[in-house]
This record gives sequence, structure tokens and C-alpha cells, in this order.
Amino acid sequence: MKVSASDDDPVSAQYEAYPYPARDPAEESRRLVTGSPSRLLEIRHYLFAGGPLPQNFRALMAGGGTGDGTVMLAQQLADAGRNDAEVVYLDLSRASRATCEARVQRRGLTNVSFHSGAIEDLAGLDLGTFDYIDCCGVLHHLCDPAAGLRSLADALKPLGGLGVMVYGRFGRSGVYELQGALRGLGKGMDLPARVQLAKSLLPALPKTNLFVRNPILGDHKRSDAELVDLLLHERDIAYSVPELAAMTATVGLEIAAWIEPLRYDPATYLPPNLHDRLEGMSQLERAELAEQLAGNLKTHTLYLSLRTRTVAESRTTAVPTWVEWDGTAVAAMLRREGALAGGFDGLPLRLDVPARAAAFAELCDGRRSLAEIETALQERFRDLPLPRLRSEIAVCLRVFGGVNRLLLLEQP
Ligand SMILES: C[S@@+](CC[C@H](N)C(=O)[O-])C[C@H]1O[C@@H](n2cnc3c(N)ncnc32)[C@H](O)[C@@H]1O
Repeated sequence: MKVSASDDDPVSAQYEAYPYPARDPAEESRRLVTGSPSRLLEIRHYLFAGGPLPQNFRALMAGGGTGDGTVMLAQQLADAGRNDAEVVYLDLSRASRATCEARVQRRGLTNVSFHSGAIEDLAGLDLGTFDYIDCCGVLHHLCDPAAGLRSLADALKPLGGLGVMVYGRFGRSGVYELQGALRGLGKGMDLPARVQLAKSLLPALPKTNLFVRNPILGDHKRSDAELVDLLLHERDIAYSVPELAAMTATVGLEIAAWIEPLRYDPATYLPPNLHDRLEGMSQLERAELAEQLAGNLKTHTLYLSLRTRTVAESRTTAVPTWVEWDGTAVAAMLRREGALAGGFDGLPLRLDVPARAAAFAELCDGRRSLAEIETALQERFRDLPLPRLRSEIAVCLRVFGGVNRLLLLEQP
């Protein structure tokens, strides 16, 4: 079986012609693209129990593309003053690498090294071993994704972990049928001609078409590169939760977390009178059920480790830290709405929070520990019994952590 991509591989040629995602390096002066996996806070919370990253931290961006993850992590490491840390970029596509290099240069970052090559050939590339490996949107394009994942796991240091994103089976309903139709219609045409073909077909699709009926798929509207990636890809497969879990298990990796955790909790979708049906279910069974119920998980992002128990726990010393949210703004929203209001991929959600959640949110300033927050709340709500206060704090951590916005860090 062919397990390694080469220059004549259609996937390789595709990313040479349409680097993904389409990015203009000039935009680096205006904004930093952020997301999961690979935010620095997430790596610490999910893979290093909230503790500091190891000395001389080394991260591999495997299939780094045009550089969203690379630029984010390199910038966050630089902002954190981690001058000892190194980000290693690897991709088959030279065109994608050129864009990433330009973005990194634009920001004046000096902590990234660039390499061209295939994930499957990692062992022979002499890049060393890594504390963290990002592989976002890549494994599902390989000839043999399990072999690719194994190659990455083999390059981890013993305490290291991975942040992975692969396509989700149910959330992409309609994609594969439309890919098939476009393959048939575009037979014999080159890729740019097939892009034009897709553009003329899309507005004319019958409203009963499964892709048209899936409202959460809109990437193709952003750029030609995104359209190619979604609808004209040379090789892509999607995973259900159990399929993905089976692949990670064969490689000997533990699942530390599914992102966002709350989306993989069936209680998010079930009416309260059915919650007792969840008793006795394993984490994996719960995640499988959540995926079946939600139907809108078009990707799966997860953190994987060679170890167990890598996720930060709610110790009294832990410092709850907002991820790109501000405690004051969260508190204002909770007071206004009486719940955490938002949604994921077409599904609006109103998440119930305890009475003292707004006060808790304001106290989470990235400096106070849980013990200090508890003391401050006790002083403010003197009549509230301590067990009640503690259970409210636990619910706050579950809800805000469940949407991946409040993570726990341990100070060094
Ligand atoms: C969908 S893009 C994802 C890019 C980036 N990780 C992101 O999330 O923005 C997939 C990338 O994987 C690269 N790729 C595909 N197969 C690869 C392989 N076998 N080894 C290394 N890179 C590969 C492609 O060239 C492309 O840049």
C-alpha cells in the first residue's frame, strides 16, 4: 500500500495550486487568527495539567498549510516570553510554506523553522522529537491516516501530546454526494475549470440536495481554495467518534479531550427527563451519542497524549483563565440574559448557570486562584453555605470550561 505522498500525488498537486487556507500576509498587521487546536492556553490545560510548558518546548506543525496554527502558536510563545521555545513547520506544499514564511516574517517572529516533506516520512527527516504536535485538517487527506498518526506519535517526547482536527462524518452530510456529482460532471477537466463548474452548479442545485439542506457548510463561499478543499478534494474521508477513537487507540494514544467538551456531552442535547439514561455510559459512549444527537459536528478537534490524566483539575491552586473572553463582559451578559447564550454551528444554546456565576466570572482575572475566588465569594455572599458555593463554582467551571473558554492554569 502506498503510504507516503509525493510530488505526483494529486493531493500534493492540489495544495500547490490552491494553498489552504487562502491568506494574505499583509493582514498580519491587522489581526491574529486564533482557534483550536494549539492555543497556548489549551496546550497547557489539556496536555500539561495546566502547568508550564517544558523547558526548550518544541512544537511540530504537521501539514502547517499557509500557517494559521504556526503563526498563532509562534506569536503566543513570543508574547509569553518563551524565547527557549521552537515551532517547526512541515508541509508538502511549497506554495503553502511560502505564504506561512511571509506571515511569520511580517510579524518579525524568529522562533519558527521551515521544512518541506511528508508526515509519513517524519522519521527520516531528522527533525528531532516534540513536546507538542499540531495536525489540523491533514490526517483525513492522507493515503493511510493511521500510519500518519503513528508517525506523529513516534515523534513525540514521552510527556508530549497532540492537537488534531479531522472531518466529522455526520456534520458533513451532503459533501460526499456533491463531491461525487462534481467528479462525474468534471471528468477530463482541469482543476481551475472544475472550480468554475462548481461555481455555476452551486446556485442551481435543487433545494432537496443534501448539501443545500446542510446549513452549516459555508467554507466554499470564502475563496476558491476553500471551495476546492470542501467540494473538489482529491482525497478526504470523514470520521465518526468511534471511528476516530478506534484509530487513536491503535496508535496507543489517549484521548485527553474533545473540543468543545460540552458539544461531546449528550446532556447538552437531551431533555432533563432523559438524563438518567446516561448513567453508566463511558466517556466515549457519551461522545458517540452526542455526535449522533447533535448532527452538526462537521469536524472533530481533540487533544491526544501518550499519558493519561493530562487535563488540568480544579485544584485550589488552579487559576481560571479566560480564553479570548473577558470576565467583565461575560458577567454583563449573564446578568442581561440570565444564562450563557450562544451557539455552535447552527445550534443556538442557552446554558443555565448558577445564581453567583456573574460574580464568579468577574473574579476570574487570570491571577486569582480558585481558593482566592472562593474566599472572595464567601465574603460577598455571607449567608451562602460553603457546600452550595462550591457546587456553584463547580457548575461554572463545567459550563465555561465546556465551551472551552475558561481554562485552568497552575502557576509555576
Ligand atoms: C487543509 S490544509 C490544513 C493546513 C493547516 N494545518 C490549517 O489547519 O490551516 C492540509 C495541509 O496538509 C498538507 N499535507 C497533505 N498531505 C500531507 C502529507 N502527507 N505530509 C505533509 N503535509 C501534507 C497540505 O499540503 C496542506 O497544506
